Amino acid sequence: MTLLRSDCRNLMPMHGPYDLILADPPYGETSLSWNRRVDGWMALAVKALTPSGSLWVFGSLRSVMATEMTFRVARLWHVQEIVWEKQNGSVFHADRLRHLHELVVQFSPASVRWQSVYQEVATTDDARVRVVRRKRRPLHTGAIASGTYRSLDGGSRLARSVQRFRNVHGRAIHPTEKPVALLDLPVRASCPPNGLVGDWFAGSAAAGVACWLAGRRYVGCKIDPDMAQRARDSLAAILPFPAGEPS
Ligand SMILES: C[S@@+](CC[C@H](N)C(=O)[O-])C[C@H]1O[C@@H](n2cnc3c(N)ncnc32)[C@H](O)[C@@H]1O
Repeated sequence: MTLLRSDCRNLMPMHGPYDLILADPPYGETSLSWNRRVDGWMALAVKALTPSGSLWVFGSLRSVMATEMTFRVARLWHVQEIVWEKQNGSVFHADRLRHLHELVVQFSPASVRWQSVYQEVATTDDARVRVVRRKRRPLHTGAIASGTYRSLDGGSRLARSVQRFRNVHGRAIHPTEKPVALLDLPVRASCPPNGLVGDWFAGSAAAGVACWLAGRRYVGCKIDPDMAQRARDSLAAILPFPAGEPS
């Protein structure tokens, strides 16, 4: 478990290569001083992936669309996304819908065949079907035929793309801290056991907790010294070994 205190563009590339990169950059949607878009990190992140690595980026539809060209320039291919439904969202405009969700979007390098990218099938244990069935692929899925999914009696079924978790307001050490349960899904699905996760905009380092619980190695990076200290204290309170001084 390594916590760096730096601009991620400076130190994260040399601590890879990463099986999975988590990127929760400032969305650039509020007037908070730290909430400014960061340029240039994406190209560095793509180069810091292992040959089977992928990237999960947090954002809103607005922030992803505003930076859409940077994904293209970095030659990233959209794979899938999680819609994180929160119990309580932000209200910036009284004339619009109450905003209760955020996106976590997976990308892989366009130069890498999807079959080569590490991906564990994400399942939940809440199946109610009482028959064992093997799903046939419809014809229109074309070449996507290799994976089969077996739904067992009372067993697992594919995790849903819409995930509902309470946000951590009230007990968070960072204003946009993500719930560990949400981070668990991309960590387990896209990083092999004992693989290396790079959390380029670590904030509270909540992803460090998710990685520790899932048995993945973790390098997180914080630019703000005060937050780095609070994240270190918070990790040290949870983990059974010292998280170490942020360097
Ligand atoms: C959306 S927050 C991340 C929240 C985090 N995922 C969590 O669960 O606590 C973005 C963070 O990136 C930090 N940041 C901004 N520019 C950065 C940079 N160049 N390198 C590293 N971190 C940066 C901000 O200070 C902020 O704490």
